[in-house]
This record gives sequence, structure tokens and C-alpha cells, in this order.
Amino acid sequence: MTNKALINKDRALAQLLQEHFGYEDLYAYVRTFGCQGNVADSEIIKGILEEIGFNLTHDIKKADMILLNTCAIRENAQNRAFGNIGAIKKYKETNPKVITALCGCMPEQEYVIKKIKKSYTFLDLIFGTGVLKSLPTLLKRSLKGEKMVIETGNDALGLNEGLPVKRDSDFKAFLPILYGCDNFCSYCVVPNVRGRERSRPFNNILKEAENLVEAGYKEITLLGQNVNSYGLKDGFKENFAALLLALDQIQGDFWIRFMTSHPKDCSFELLEAMAQAPKVAKHLHLPFQSGNDRILQTMNRGYTRADYTRLLKYAKTLMPDLSVTGDVIVGFPGESEEEFEDTLSIVNEVEFTSLYTFIFSPREGTPAAEMLDETSEEAKSQRFNKLISLQEQIAALRSEKMVGNVYKVLCEGESPNKPGFFVGRTEGNIIIEFPGSADKIGSFLTARVIKAKTWRLEGQLI
Ligand code: SAH
Ligand code: SF4
Ligand code: F3S
Repeated sequence: MTNKALINKDRALAQLLQEHFGYEDLYAYVRTFGCQGNVADSEIIKGILEEIGFNLTHDIKKADMILLNTCAIRENAQNRAFGNIGAIKKYKETNPKVITALCGCMPEQEYVIKKIKKSYTFLDLIFGTGVLKSLPTLLKRSLKGEKMVIETGNDALGLNEGLPVKRDSDFKAFLPILYGCDNFCSYCVVPNVRGRERSRPFNNILKEAENLVEAGYKEITLLGQNVNSYGLKDGFKENFAALLLALDQIQGDFWIRFMTSHPKDCSFELLEAMAQAPKVAKHLHLPFQSGNDRILQTMNRGYTRADYTRLLKYAKTLMPDLSVTGDVIVGFPGESEEEFEDTLSIVNEVEFTSLYTFIFSPREGTPAAEMLDETSEEAKSQRFNKLISLQEQIAALRSEKMVGNVYKVLCEGESPNKPGFFVGRTEGNIIIEFPGSADKIGSFLTARVIKAKTWRLEGQLI
């Protein structure tokens, strides 16, 4: 029996909810912070809440249950979440029946739990990243009168198999393939808050992808902190390259994307599989973090700059149009001006489609937080701005080169910039905006680029 059926049959929970609220028309509001992993978790949480009997709402004022799914990756992300937690207090004060819940990566840190117990006593339910399937049980404990139910800890983490999923989109889907991370990059909190790496069974992933394609999904993004290590630790007979090739065999017109690839585990075999599989989008998100070998080593990344550029060189011989994006951290403890210049030079050398740039943020419980960091905040933000303006120049050149070319795009929705315009994303993960119509949202279209600005390309459907 799947968990879905179990939840459905949970009459005791239905009765507790009825007693607590005194009415049946219940609404839940779920807000998600952080990465796609959290978005995918929230889709499961929403699935479970619907099974329990909640309607989902975007209107927090209407909600009988408010749930915040939080991120701990950088201090400002976490502070923003704390601000939002503080802001839900007023809803609890207006209506004490409202159930307030906090989940995700933040409460997987002990000092956060301490802070919550001290300053956010209005929270009813706190749970971590590995216990999604226990949500109905935790809710029951809360409804039975237990004050601040807390369930965290990563020791016996599961895989979320068989849980209901309520997807945010009906044409783009996130499909987690592995959870957790074993890499312990010295700056990163993820291994602490997401637990040890574990891969989902090959056949379950395949089945889920087949169902998505059958339901009309046009894009499936495989998720994991390090998708390249899929199945390795668990001794699966299929690795990530094999998974891509198997997914590529599913009949239908759709794209397969994946993130994140870790350069240390990105094999030539994987690049060959990508090149060989027409449905796998020719886009590689390959975070490099720094262009300097000493910094990479202190970050515990497990590759050198030469390893990284060698991979991309081979990738481009196989896929000349490959679009490459990356993550980069500036101001890592001890990074000298010279070492930062190496980051600028790798950005120049690779010509990324786009970059996700971050200023180092010390995270409690990680080795880098204890390292001597003498660079001033001002110097860090100067480096950050230099990096951004270099990438802008590169992107502007790339955009100009695209003018006149024709691309297959997936129409994702209305443009937030220009009325009557719609947003399409190319295989290389580049956005083109064009005049269109709402009935084409969720379809593949063909667009010619007619005008280029740094971050915006304007096109016409053909
Ligand atoms: N698993 C992915 C990254 C997930 S976190 C990988 O290894 O590539 C997303 C990005 O956040 C990282 O690539 C890194 O650039 C950034 N990041 C993580 N921890 C950070 C920290 N403490 N300070 C600043 N940026 C950080
Ligand atoms: Fe963090 Fe490194 Fe794991 Fe990525 S691979 S999640 S950066 S520890
Ligand atoms: Fe944030 Fe957790 Fe993702 S810390 S980036 S939500 S894995």
C-alpha cells in the first residue's frame, strides 16, 4: 500500500481537524525559499496537504495553515526567512486556530532550533528535510495539543517514494533523483541540513518521467546536489549517464534538464551520453566556484581549474553549441586579489551563458566559517561588481551573436517586462521574449531573435 492510501484513510486526522477548526473548508498556504530541491519538497508537502483535505491558496490571509519551507545556504537567505517567520505571528494572533509550520533546511540546524524556541514560540510545527512523509502524524500530534512539535534529524532519511506530488506547473516538472550531499565543500551547509547522499531507484524515476510525458509535460529537470554521482554510492548498476540515455528513450517531444553537476564527478561518459541523447538539453550547469587552484583546494572541491576547463573543452568538441552556466563564490576566506583575478580569467576563458554569483557567507558548523577572513566587505563587494560587469559584457556579446538566429523555445508564460509579450526559454536556457498568445503557454514554438539587450532578447515567432 502506498503512503497516499494511508493518508486518505486517515479518518482520525480528519476528525481532529474538524474538531479544531469547526468547519471543513480548509486552506493551506505554502511559501518556498531556496533551491529547486526545496521547490520539489514543497510540491510533495502540497500533495500531502491536499490528500489530508486542505485546499491550496496563494492568499495567506485566507489560510488555516501557514507553512514556510526555508533555506539556509547563505546568511541573507536565512535572515529573510526569519523576517517572514516573524511576520506570520500576526495571523496567529488574529486567529489562534491557524496552524503555523516551519520546515526545510533552516530547522536542521541546532542553533536555529534554539533561537526558535526562544523567540518564535507561536510556531506549532517544525520539521526537517527528511521527514516529509510524517507530516500527517506531526499534524495529529499538534492537534492533540502538543506544543511546538519538532521533528528533525537526518539519520534515517527516506526517499519520499510513493508520496503524492502537487506540481506547480503542468508543463515543467522537477524530478528529484538523489537527495543529500556527501561532498562537504568547506563553505557549505547543505551536507549538514540535507543528510547523506542517497539515490532514488532507477525504475521509479523512469516510471515517474514516463507518467509526466504522458500527462503532457514538456520539460523534466532532474534534481540533486550532485546528479553525477547518481547511484554510485548505493552500488546501482545504472549510473547517471545510463539514466539520461534511458530517459531519452521515452517517446514524445520533451526536454530533459538536470542540475547540479559537480565537476569532480562529471565524466567524459556523461558528456558523451548528453551529446548522444537528442532530448537532453544542451545546457550544462557546472559550478566552478573559483578559478584558483589554492582556493578550490581550500574549498574542498576535489578538482583543479585545469580539470574543469579540460571537461568543457571535451564537452564543446562533442556539442559545439553547448550552453554552460556556473556558480561562483567571491571573497572566500583568504582569497587574495590575485587569486580573485584567476576567477575573472576563467570567466573570460569559458564565456558562460550566465553566472550565479555569490559573496561568501560564513555558515555555522562549516570549516570555512572558522577560517581567517581578512578581506574587507568593501573589497569583496568590489570583486563581486567586477565579476558581474565582466559577465555582463560576455552576455551582451553572446546576445548580439544570437540576433537573426532561429531557436526552438518552450513558452513559459507572460513577460513580466512588456505587456503582450511572452517568455520562451531555449534549450541552452536563454530567455527570448516575443509577442504571442496565452494559449501557447506550455508549448514548443520557434522564434527568431530580432533585437538584443544584455539580459533580454526580443524575438518573433515564425
Ligand atoms: N550542489 C551544488 C550547489 C548547491 S548550493 C554544487 O555543488 O554545485 C548553490 C550555490 O550556492 C553553490 O554552488 C555556491 O556557489 C553557493 N554557496 C553555497 N554555500 C555558500 C556560502 N556559504 N556562501 C556563499 N555562497 C555559497
Ligand atoms: Fe554544497 Fe558542495 Fe554539496 Fe554542492 S557539492 S551541495 S556546494 S557541499
Ligand atoms: Fe537552501 Fe537547502 Fe537548497 S539550504 S539551497 S534550500 S538544499
